[in-house]
Amino acid sequence: KKTDPHIIVIFGGSGDLTIRKLIPALFNLHCRGFLPSCFAILGLGRTPHTDESYREKAVVGNPHLLKNENADDKSIKDFGRHIYYHTMNSQSESDYGNLKDRLMDINEQCSTQENYVFYLSTPPSLYQSIASGLAKVALNHEDRGWKRLIVEKPFGYDLKSASALNAHLLTCFKEDQIYRIDHYLGKETVQNVLVTRFANSTFEPIWNRNYIHHVEITAAESVGVEKRGGYYESSGALRDMIQNHLLQLVALVAMEPPNLSSAAAIRDEKLKLFQSLRPLTVEEIRNNVIRGQYVGSRINGESFPGYREEEGVKSDSKTETYAALKFYIDNWRWADVPFYIRTGKKLPTRVTEIVVHFKPTPHRLFNYTNDHVNAGNTLVIRIQPNEGILLKFGVKIPGEGFRVTNTNMDFHYSQLVESYLPDAYERLLLDCIQGDATLYSRGDSVEAAWTFINPILNAWQEFDDIKVFGYPVGTWGPEHADQLIEGKNFTWRYPC
Ligand code: BG6
Repeated sequence: KKTDPHIIVIFGGSGDLTIRKLIPALFNLHCRGFLPSCFAILGLGRTPHTDESYREKAVVGNPHLLKNENADDKSIKDFGRHIYYHTMNSQSESDYGNLKDRLMDINEQCSTQENYVFYLSTPPSLYQSIASGLAKVALNHEDRGWKRLIVEKPFGYDLKSASALNAHLLTCFKEDQIYRIDHYLGKETVQNVLVTRFANSTFEPIWNRNYIHHVEITAAESVGVEKRGGYYESSGALRDMIQNHLLQLVALVAMEPPNLSSAAAIRDEKLKLFQSLRPLTVEEIRNNVIRGQYVGSRINGESFPGYREEEGVKSDSKTETYAALKFYIDNWRWADVPFYIRTGKKLPTRVTEIVVHFKPTPHRLFNYTNDHVNAGNTLVIRIQPNEGILLKFGVKIPGEGFRVTNTNMDFHYSQLVESYLPDAYERLLLDCIQGDATLYSRGDSVEAAWTFINPILNAWQEFDDIKVFGYPVGTWGPEHADQLIEGKNFTWRYPC
C-alpha cells in the first residue's frame, strides 16, 4: 500500500503509552522500511522539552525502544532525526495557533505535505477539547494534505458518554478521519480469526448452531492493576476489557461473512453482530454475570496484596477485577448457542484464547476415555502467548476394541518461516498512516457494544445485593463463575 509523507503528532508525548508503545512501534516500522523517508514525529505536552531532550527521553534513552534487536547506533540516530517536540497546553485554545505554525515549519523542513495523524494519547477527559482546538485552527481541513485523528481507549465511560464523545468528535472531524483504537484488533492472531473462518472450507460450513455447542473466550492476566489503580477504580474489568477487546473477539468469531475484505464491509457485519447481542435482563444479570475482586493471599510462603490494598484504590472498593458472563446472539446462525466470556487480573497465568466447542456426533458408537468425555471436537484459537491454533479430536487407541481418546493437531506461529508477529501498535499505526480503518472501531459499533454493556453497569450500581465475589490472587476467579457453564461435563478450559 502507498505510504504518504506525514507527521505523527502525539498529544501526551511524554506519557507512558507514548514511551512504552508508540515510539518503539514507530521505530520498528522505520527499521523495517515501512515509513517513507519524509516523515516526522512531533511530541506534544506541557512538560517542557527541547527537541534534543525529547529525543533523549523518547529514543536514545528509551528502554522499551532499546530492547529492539535493530536498535544499533546508526538506526537510533537515523530515527532520532525525525523526532521533534513542542511544548503546549492542549487545554488552552490559544496554543493551537502556535502548534499550526510549528507544523508548517516541520512541513517545510521535512516535505511532509501537510499530512497529519493526530494521536490522542492523553486522559480521555481531554479528547473533546483537543478535537475542538484542532478544528478551530482548521487542522481538520483536508484541502491540503489529509488529517486523521486516532482516539485511544477508553472510548466513553458508558453509553451516554460514548455517544456524547462521538457526537462531539463528529462536529470537528468526519467519521472517515476518526480512528478509534482497540489494540486487540492489531494483534495478528485476532485478524487471523477472519482467515480461519473465511479461508477454510473445513470450518466455514460447520460454524453455526447446528455444529457448535458453545463458545468460550478467556482473557486472563497474571498481573494486577500495578500503578494504574487510579484509572482502574473508575473502570473495572467490564469497561476495561469486555466492552471493547472481548466484544471485538466475539464479533470476529460470530459475524456473518462480509461480501468484501473492505473496511466498510467488515465493519458493517460487526455492527450487525453487536446489534444482535440479546439484551440482558436484570434477572439474567444477577444469574449470568459474575464479578469478582482479588483478595490478598499467600502463595508458597509469599504474601500478595489484594486489590483494595493497591495504590490508588479505595479500601472499600467494589470495582471488579474479574468478570464472566454468559449471553446469546439473537440471529439465525447462533440461535441457542451460549457464549461465555471471562477476564480477570491476578489469575494463574497470562493467556487469551477463543475455544469453539463442537457438538458431539449424533450417535455414540465407541467407548470414550475420560479425556474425551464430551466426545466433541474443540478448536482453540490461541491469541497470546504461544500464538497458534489447536484442534482436539478423537482417535482410536491402538489395540483391541474401539476406545477413543483425544489428540491434538497443534499449529504454532513460531513454526512459520515468516514468524515475526508485529506489535499491535505497529500494525495499527501503519494502517492509519495508509488510510485503512478496517482494524479500527467505527462510532456506531462502539455505541452498539456499549448498548449491550450498559444495563450491566446500571444493575451493578442500582442493586447492592449483586455481590462482588472475592477470589484469592493466583486462582481462576470466583467459583460462582464455574456454575455459568451448563451442560454435562462442561467446565471452563483452564489453559496453562
Ligand atoms: C488494556 C487494559 O486495554 O489491555 C489493561 O487497559 C490490560 O488493563 C491490557 O492489561 C491487556 O492487553 P494485552 O495486549 O496485554 O492483552
